[in-house]
Amino acid sequence: DVGETAAPRSAVYWHDGSVSAAERASLLGQVGCTVWLSGLSGAGKSTIACALEQALLQQGYFAYRLDGDNIRMGLNKDLGFSATDRAENIRRIGEVSRLFADAGCVCIAAFISPYAADRRAARALHAASGLPFIEVYVRCPLAVAEERDPKGLYKKARAGVIRGFTGIDDPYEEPEQPEVILDTDQHSVAECVNCLLDALRKAGVIE
Ligand code: PPS
Repeated sequence: DVGETAAPRSAVYWHDGSVSAAERASLLGQVGCTVWLSGLSGAGKSTIACALEQALLQQGYFAYRLDGDNIRMGLNKDLGFSATDRAENIRRIGEVSRLFADAGCVCIAAFISPYAADRRAARALHAASGLPFIEVYVRCPLAVAEERDPKGLYKKARAGVIRGFTGIDDPYEEPEQPEVILDTDQHSVAECVNCLLDALRKAGVIE
């Protein structure tokens, strides 16, 4: 609860900088955006995010990856996996992504982000700032993710050692109208990255 320490809203004022969004894009030679990867644990979000980041940097674009496990070690280390905490996790990441995108970066956010309302809010934040938001459903059947089980978490969830695990005893609400769907049980990492590069081209973010 930040109620007591937060500044009253009436005492907070937005301060515009001296550089417009268009000027920034022109000076940097790049338009910022967010590529938002959502999907089950083990679906391949982090692998694809890393490969996309590398491909973009190698092509000379400014890109940066935000990843669930990493962010939960720092910025969001006070949050767990209750519905309220997941919503707050995604709210903060939505804000951070928007800042990166506004700064001219291709921000690659890889979070389970299981709740549609939280993803919608992140999209709305970007829309309000005129920033492209590319929602990507990193799709993979639960059985395949469970078979991969790279961190052994599904096994623990099935054994009841971890409670509230997404896909097992916590819901994953599938994206209904994502810009891109990647079926990671059918396509290679390279194919998935090419598909995202195509989407970035269509959005006018890269050439
Ligand atoms: S969320 O739902 O968007 O807030 O989750 P996220 O921040 O992406 O963190 C997911 C990673 O946390 C680990 N983990 C769990 N995931 C889901 N449910 C539960 N209960 C849980 N506990 C720990 C897990 O390693 C997730 O990483 P990924 O990369 O998705 O496998």
